[in-house]
Amino acid sequence: MCGIVGYVGGKQAGPILLEGLRRLEYRGYDSAGLAVISPEGRLSTVKEAGKLSQLEAVLQEGMPPGTCGIAHTRWATHGAPNRLNAHPHWSRDRDIALIHNGIIENADVLRAKLSDLGYTFETETDTETVVHLIDEAFRENDTLDDAMLAALEQVEGAYGIAVVSSRDPDKIVVARRGSPLLIGIGKNGENLIGSDASAVIQHTKDVVYLDDGDCTVLTAEGYRVFHMEQGEVQRSVQKIEWDLEAAEKGGYEHFMLKEISEQPESLRNVMRGRLLEETGDARLGGITLSDEELAKIRRIIITACGTSWHAALIGEYMLEELAGIPVEVEYASEFRYRSPVLEEGTLVLAISQSGETADTLAALEEARARGASTMGIVNVVGSSIARKTDFGIYLHAGPEIGVASTKAFTSQIVALALFTLYLGRRRSLSILQGRELVAALQKLPDQVAETLELGPVTRELAAEYGDAQNFLYLGRGYQFPVALEGALKLKEVSYIHAEGYPAAEMKHGPIALIDENMPVVALAPRDSVYSKIVSNIEEVAARSGRILAVVSGDAPELIGKADHVIQVPQTVPALLPVLTTIPLQLLAYYAAIYRERDVDQPRNLAKSVTVE
Ligand code: M6R
Repeated sequence: MCGIVGYVGGKQAGPILLEGLRRLEYRGYDSAGLAVISPEGRLSTVKEAGKLSQLEAVLQEGMPPGTCGIAHTRWATHGAPNRLNAHPHWSRDRDIALIHNGIIENADVLRAKLSDLGYTFETETDTETVVHLIDEAFRENDTLDDAMLAALEQVEGAYGIAVVSSRDPDKIVVARRGSPLLIGIGKNGENLIGSDASAVIQHTKDVVYLDDGDCTVLTAEGYRVFHMEQGEVQRSVQKIEWDLEAAEKGGYEHFMLKEISEQPESLRNVMRGRLLEETGDARLGGITLSDEELAKIRRIIITACGTSWHAALIGEYMLEELAGIPVEVEYASEFRYRSPVLEEGTLVLAISQSGETADTLAALEEARARGASTMGIVNVVGSSIARKTDFGIYLHAGPEIGVASTKAFTSQIVALALFTLYLGRRRSLSILQGRELVAALQKLPDQVAETLELGPVTRELAAEYGDAQNFLYLGRGYQFPVALEGALKLKEVSYIHAEGYPAAEMKHGPIALIDENMPVVALAPRDSVYSKIVSNIEEVAARSGRILAVVSGDAPELIGKADHVIQVPQTVPALLPVLTTIPLQLLAYYAAIYRERDVDQPRNLAKSVTVE
């Protein structure tokens, strides 16, 4: 949600900033802009509404010269997504430029105060208040860093901000509270900042993740980090574990299709070195609890948003069935605002691809404040959730750029299976059951590769049903969360209205919607509720609904009932969601293509939701 990049060094900043914005555009694409300080010390700002291509078109006519600058791609919170509200925002003398990710909660109070001081506002944004505060603070401070610090004392809310000024050129000043920021340590007299690693990966793999309350002053020669309360601090340098190619399309038309296709590999990565065949167990280095401490966990609350919440539901079924532990799944946005009872022995598990989702982060903080021990299942290394949890499991799925989450979802399911094995083997899961799950996990990447061959079939189905106004997705047991996820994918990228439902609930209401115009995706793999879902399919067929059944292995019972049968390989019930999800991802992708949607940048969405 909003991308930030900054460069200071010996090269022209403009092209580097533009390249960074291209890699960050998945974080927000309402408008974009940059600010560069020229060799003569003049601050130039260029910004445009719309996708990055609009800004690029303007910059083709002339890139502002200079070796120090900042750039931003926006997902609007306060104020319409127009040119005026685009970042950077500037001071009244146009000598300070600021970019911001987050929300300034006391913007109204600050606006009133600054208006009294004679400031006028050009935009509807909360961000503009901060640049005027810095301008005001410059009256009593000599450096940009001191002015920014003084200004931030008055600011409430969440921010990742970067500021440049022609009054104190050749430096970028940065502050973080609640919104992610990192420093990219360049090699040849240059340094960068980014809201995530993809902004800097082309120039360096050495990064420093800033903590909440951290500020940094970045010059070509180096950087200093100081904490707003603690003063100067040292933060460790970490290596980005993936390559530039991982953040590029690599010949695919869209990131979403690339990431769907990467799933055999991303699943191998989440399991690498973690399966213990002999003992039917998992090796999870990130779980730092002793067996005695693990034995004290009496209940797990999993909290997440969106697709990660669907993975959490699958985790609930697995952990209860195989590890015999009570689990509840909570939307992070609900958990944080009620008064959850977290008695001793409760583990709160946060699941997040980005590790930066504001609601999940807040739920985690709520859990910590109430004394619960916390765990994370996270993809982005060094992200806030990864750092704020007591222990956890990384997905190692590589960067997920497509706004619709695909490979992270299947990796989350497998990470949950690993955790289930680990916990289960220390509780009620027998060695034989453990071995069976390990064997099924080992086969999974090849089975996913086989399932991906459904591409052409799903493409045809998307063309046949792509004009439908609505879709219903039905599943039971482990397949109910898959139904929710299939519906979410279709909504997100094709804008077709879709609902996921527990199949048996259909007769309590949604059955009224069924007629010959309603495509129904029925998840019917061979598991303990197969015969039940077959009955539900019959109910739909009896009302002329069009049925697309996803089955595992043969399904003779569905001949003559389902209009289309999509077959995936057979595996244990707990892992079937990984396989049944694949055709649903492909169906959503091809439906979006059929309807000529912008697959990687669907309207109104952003990859990582770092505001409430
Ligand atoms: O990064 P997170 O996993 O915390 O993100 C949670 C949701 O915002 C995310 O899954 C969202 O629903 C995706 N667009 C789904 O495709």
